[in-house]
Amino acid sequence: MAEPAGRSVWGSKLGFVLAASGSAIGLGNIVFFGANAYRFGGGAFYVPYFAALFVLGIPMMIVEMGIGQTQRRAFPSAMNRTTGQKGEFLAWWSLLNAIVIAMYYITLLAWVGTMMVRAITGALYDDGVGATFGSVLGSSVPVIFVFVIWGLNAVFLSRGTKTIEATVKVFVPLMWVFMILLVIRGLTLDNGLQGVWYLFTPNFKGIQDASVWQGAFSQMFFSLSLGLGTMTAYASYLPRKADVVTNGGMVSFMNCSFEFIAGLAIFSMLFSFSLQPSSSTLGMSFVVVPTGIGEFPAAATFFAALFFFLLLIAGLTSSISIIESPVAALRDKFGWARSKALALVMVIGVAGSLVFALPIMLQQDGKDAAPLGISLLDLMDHWAFGYSLLIVGLVEAILIGHVYGIDKLRAELNENARFTLGPWFGVLVKWIIPVVISVVLLFNVLAELDISIEALGLAGRGFYEGDGPFDGLDFLPGLIFGVWLGGTVLGAFLLTRIGSYDHEGGDA
Ligand code: PHE
Repeated sequence: MAEPAGRSVWGSKLGFVLAASGSAIGLGNIVFFGANAYRFGGGAFYVPYFAALFVLGIPMMIVEMGIGQTQRRAFPSAMNRTTGQKGEFLAWWSLLNAIVIAMYYITLLAWVGTMMVRAITGALYDDGVGATFGSVLGSSVPVIFVFVIWGLNAVFLSRGTKTIEATVKVFVPLMWVFMILLVIRGLTLDNGLQGVWYLFTPNFKGIQDASVWQGAFSQMFFSLSLGLGTMTAYASYLPRKADVVTNGGMVSFMNCSFEFIAGLAIFSMLFSFSLQPSSSTLGMSFVVVPTGIGEFPAAATFFAALFFFLLLIAGLTSSISIIESPVAALRDKFGWARSKALALVMVIGVAGSLVFALPIMLQQDGKDAAPLGISLLDLMDHWAFGYSLLIVGLVEAILIGHVYGIDKLRAELNENARFTLGPWFGVLVKWIIPVVISVVLLFNVLAELDISIEALGLAGRGFYEGDGPFDGLDFLPGLIFGVWLGGTVLGAFLLTRIGSYDHEGGDA
């Protein structure tokens, strides 16, 4: 069958694997994993984590890549062709969440960039890293970085697969080298190996706790870049003969190896310097780990700059994939030029990133309590990250499993696969994955409603965990929830209804 006219194709299989693993390996692997592993009890975490990899992660990776490659379309169009308008609606909803996540992911990178500059100029450790980060949040330098980082993304995405491929060929190998340097440094510190035991001594008591499973599942989805249409968009640029089963397995494996190594680097360092890990991803990235690096016997500033540079390039190869997903979707639906789709996503995205980066402080009892941007970021992250990825995974598994028919997809993928998928794959996608995600989501909602079931290890937390310094702004959590839900649902509805795929002509 002919390739759709004008659709670009990856230059090589390596290019695709690097791009997909560059998407997967990001802030999620380097710092969120450590924070989550600590929050959910170290050795209790990786049992659910590996279960999540095999039961949920690898199969959904193959499904998301599979529909992109077989339909040669980005997420909404691929879902429309396989499962009709319901599927298209789901896909647009996920892409609107992708835009929200891109907004704050880039604000995070703007903070990373600012901290990197502080490290290079030698000011990082002057008053302690915590104070430095506080001053970064209260300054307007990150606002400049928001423009710089969106600008870099625009450059890397300007010519589609060509420029993406050129970028990842440099950045992805580089981040492996930097990570390996950090892990060698970490493990050779005094007592460094103790952190390894903490992280990898199984703790079978903790796995009875529902929140540990919930944490591991969300972490796995985010880490593998699932639920935002990114893997579908990237795989839509694969040639028809590509082996998605092998590629999907390989990308998942590389991602989790990187995460594993990052965990070793971070925990060896924390134990060596008896630092208290942080369960907050921001605290871990911007304060605890850099503080640990500051204790290195030599070249601390060099390693700190290296750490932030590593976060920056790993984050950039992820952010380009989050942005490419809606860009590819708009082009497929409306037949727009790349520049037009990119410009639209950027205008909306930059505005959002700026809101998260504005140096406005919230006040509590007359004192500065927290930056408004971080509080908004936390609130948005709670819904867009905590819920949407799993909801998309759940509905996607049901639609592809039952409406399109997983055995149809399986047969299509097996044609090119070196390791063919057996009937077990269908059982996973049709039944096990939907049931498992439903249970995890149900527990999440119960906890959100402050319902506790002790026998199941379920502890109520209340709406959005109920903390946050919203002095006089108590309406904020409710408002953000409303804006998120109303905006994404309405937007997805409109995007599904307007326009048509007519311009695709005979190929459709
Ligand atoms: N996987 C990326 C990370 O670990 C984040 C990401 C999520 C990228 C979803 C694309 C899509 O940081």
